[in-house]
Amino acid sequence: MKKISRRDFLAASGMMAGAAMLPGGVASAADKKKDDRVVLSGKAGPTLRFRADGKFKILQLTDTHYISSKPELSDPMIDDIRRYIEIEKPDLIIHTGDIIYTDYDIPSFEKILKPIAEAGIPFFITWGNHDHDFSPEMQKRVEKEPMNEGFPVPGIPGLSNFALPILPSAGGNKPAAMVYSFDSLDVAANSYKFDPQFSAERPEIPGSAWITREQIHWYEAVSEQTTRENGGVPVPSYSFFHIALPEFSEAYDYRWTRIIGEHYESSGRAQLNSGLYVSMLDHKDMVGVFCGHDHDINMIMDYKHGIKLVYGQVTGRSGAYCHLPESYGCRVIELTEGEREFDTWIRLYNGDTEYRVNSGKMVTDTHSGR
Ligand SMILES: [Fe+2]
Ligand SMILES: [Fe+2]
Repeated sequence: MKKISRRDFLAASGMMAGAAMLPGGVASAADKKKDDRVVLSGKAGPTLRFRADGKFKILQLTDTHYISSKPELSDPMIDDIRRYIEIEKPDLIIHTGDIIYTDYDIPSFEKILKPIAEAGIPFFITWGNHDHDFSPEMQKRVEKEPMNEGFPVPGIPGLSNFALPILPSAGGNKPAAMVYSFDSLDVAANSYKFDPQFSAERPEIPGSAWITREQIHWYEAVSEQTTRENGGVPVPSYSFFHIALPEFSEAYDYRWTRIIGEHYESSGRAQLNSGLYVSMLDHKDMVGVFCGHDHDINMIMDYKHGIKLVYGQVTGRSGAYCHLPESYGCRVIELTEGEREFDTWIRLYNGDTEYRVNSGKMVTDTHSGR
């Protein structure tokens, strides 16, 4: 079988701007010359910018799991979300998925969307495995919200795949940081809906799906383009998705990983390792990877290669799978312009903060371990 280059793959899949197709799905050489920029997002134009003080604060909600049959447990979460936003005053709100539970109902989604969309702050949602039976409908709905930043790049598996530049405080359009969202799909058995490589042909693979090669090709193309346009210097980057990479559990098991936070369950991380972590290492831009999905874990880890692997704090009050009573809230991540480190802490429902740390000071000592 003839090998296709990554660049041809991107053009053929519509991930390059202006990549007109020839029969067979391959862009012509002439078309490539016209405009070969890689598409960062389904929405034109960046809107995020560092504040005048050089800070940019992200509020990560995760695993709200609104349960319509338990409104007495789920409804207080709506006030929680409003309170987190009011206290932290973030520049970007990210929900890392599992918005709903198993009812797959749009009214439950609307309950969680409302306090986020009404905050008047840019936000996006990266879908979780519990969302996926309804995510096309929810994606259409969320795109009607004026502050939504999540618009999928066409041609790659899943919906919540996009990259958002954060522009410099002093003005200009050259990214000072990048935020990536990947759609970590569903359990493997259901992910054939997004990529035929999954499950229809491999029903024997249990557990969570993995970030696909097409998504990784897209990340690499965006990363290389961004680095090239930054004079060859990788731009500090942060990625958000629902299901942890295999490296999250490997890091926990690895003797020399510095860990802050709690771990009360084994990770339901991706079943197969498709190589995103290695690709991030190779591209030298990724500072932190942030996920949700594992409700009873809220750790930040400095793995041996320096990329911080970070879990969110479960936001859901509903008790779905959560074994940390009275432990629900959100994670806050504060970026500093020009630096390859971040401050992060957990904001709990009762207003307390815990596990505050500067990632730059969290360096694994390979001689003394944790
Ligand atoms: Fe969840
Ligand atoms: Fe999940």
